Amino acid sequence: MAVLPIRIAPDPVLRQKAKRVRNIDGSIHKLIKDMLETMHDAPGVGLAAPQVGVPLRVIVIGIPEQEDFALINPEVVKTKGERVVSEGCLSIPGYVGQLKRAESVTVKGRDPSGKEVRIKAEELLAQALEHEIDHVNGILYTDRLEREEDLKKIEPKDVKEAEL
Ligand code: NI
Repeated sequence: MAVLPIRIAPDPVLRQKAKRVRNIDGSIHKLIKDMLETMHDAPGVGLAAPQVGVPLRVIVIGIPEQEDFALINPEVVKTKGERVVSEGCLSIPGYVGQLKRAESVTVKGRDPSGKEVRIKAEELLAQALEHEIDHVNGILYTDRLEREEDLKKIEPKDVKEAEL
């Protein structure tokens, strides 16, 4: 396992639409292990493969007090409601934004064994899933800000928001 360097905006890999994974082989399992280690090292609560320079549709999530998991070829199939959240991104250090996310989301994808899974999520887990699925589509949370004032500069020691 290895902690990988995290790509920082405006790195072009963050703006690519990542490719679907066709074969969930050993290289994907290794990527997932390295992404989990990188996420914990940062620390963050989620990470998408483009953030470590790999343009594939793979995400990992690690919400406090829940088991870490990875999703391959994740897709949002349904969203419900709307709420305002604070959000940070490991690829945009030193900033936090206020934006609207869904109250709940239903996501589907494959787990590392290739099994199709469907997850219904609320709160931080829903936010993390939306944020990471945005990453594999080349979207950053800053694209979703409604006003310039909704982005604030912060000291790294003051980070309390979700870093994804
Ligand atoms: Ni992010």
